[in-house]
Amino acid sequence: MLDLNDPDFWQDIHTPLAAAMDAAAFASTTDGVLYALRAEEVEAVLKDPRFLAADLLAMMGLRQGPVWAWWQSVMFSQNPPEHTRLRSLVSRAFTPRAIDRRRPSIRARAEQILDPAFEAGRLDAQGNLGHRLPLSVMSDLLGIPDTDRDTFSNWTTDLGLAFSAALDTEARARVENALAELTLYAADLIERRRRSPGEDLLSALVAAEDGGDQLSTTELVAMVTNLMFAAHDTTRGALAVMVMLLAQHPEQMQAVRADRSLLSSTIDETLRYEAITFSTSRLASEDIVLLGTEIAAGTTVGVCPPAASRDPRRYERPHEFDVRRVDIRPPTFGAGVHSCPGAALARAELEEALGVILDHCSSIELEESIRWMPLTHIRRFKDSLWVRLVSA
Ligand code: HEM
Repeated sequence: MLDLNDPDFWQDIHTPLAAAMDAAAFASTTDGVLYALRAEEVEAVLKDPRFLAADLLAMMGLRQGPVWAWWQSVMFSQNPPEHTRLRSLVSRAFTPRAIDRRRPSIRARAEQILDPAFEAGRLDAQGNLGHRLPLSVMSDLLGIPDTDRDTFSNWTTDLGLAFSAALDTEARARVENALAELTLYAADLIERRRRSPGEDLLSALVAAEDGGDQLSTTELVAMVTNLMFAAHDTTRGALAVMVMLLAQHPEQMQAVRADRSLLSSTIDETLRYEAITFSTSRLASEDIVLLGTEIAAGTTVGVCPPAASRDPRRYERPHEFDVRRVDIRPPTFGAGVHSCPGAALARAELEEALGVILDHCSSIELEESIRWMPLTHIRRFKDSLWVRLVSA
């Protein structure tokens, strides 16, 4: 049994996960979920259509009200065929080629954020780079003006409170208020793009059509909030972890500084070594036998990318951080119909930020000890991650 309520569990998840994965492909947790741990089982759950989207908010104790209703309308919570329709319209607007065209502006954003840190010789990798880069990039993609960015970010952060373990009345009011403000703001933005389309992703979403079918304003609002929400915490965590790993493994940092063809494998290895999504969940719609394990109808099944990404059946030397690994395919972006549509964008942000760091720094030193936030499905450090940047 994995004790997710034990704060110590979160400070070193890999030791208990490795022991549990050694014993069995699945483990129960104190919150009553059956977790798939090994890589093969994780992929099998995510790709099997008999497992449906689980109601994450209900699992957190929120079963009614506007926030719960919003959550039902986002892609995460939908199943085929409704999910297929939303997803295909988004995929048309969100192609890897479109992301590649954005690379120069992503790099410019990374430089804008990092330049003052190079000058100061120190950086909060989570609160500054991690927080601001995904927010700037998504805002640029959606065409949200610089002046509205911080307000928008406060709303999406408040919305994230809905997924914390303890949601008291005050926090619930903040979440509901954020959703109401965000909805008004997004609806207005959408209306403006309908009237005068631009080059941004939102204009493309407004225009995206599949067999004459377009997203309604309500669906577009859900999509905008879903994208901002899904893009922020995840990429923030991955950027901070990348900086931590460069500091902890100076010889690996030197390897990629000397040979920039290792940039992309460094990102994949970062995403594998510290998979930022601790879990995502599904509901068994019928009795299922999955690779020999019996799962009863109605069981909530979690999948655990940080376990799968260190599965010795899939990876040699799984607990070693090695930027020269080939064919990594990290499980952190999920698999199957819900697999992350933002993976190319997240990779582009990580790669551009890494390129800028390597151009300016010969090494990085941790200024504080690593403290992970307990009980988070998107992993992050407790408060900050301050590092010293040694110039090249
Ligand atoms: C390192 C960064 C990221 C990680 C680790 C990550 C991880 C994931 C995972 C594991 C899923 C699947 C969840 C499930 O199966 O239940 C997912 C879905 C999703 N992600 Fe990401 N993500 C990242 C960045 C992004 C970005 C930048 C965007 C937006 C552009 C984004 C948008 C989404 C959306 C909209 C979904 C729902 C897809 C669906 O339900 O079909 N993600 N992400």
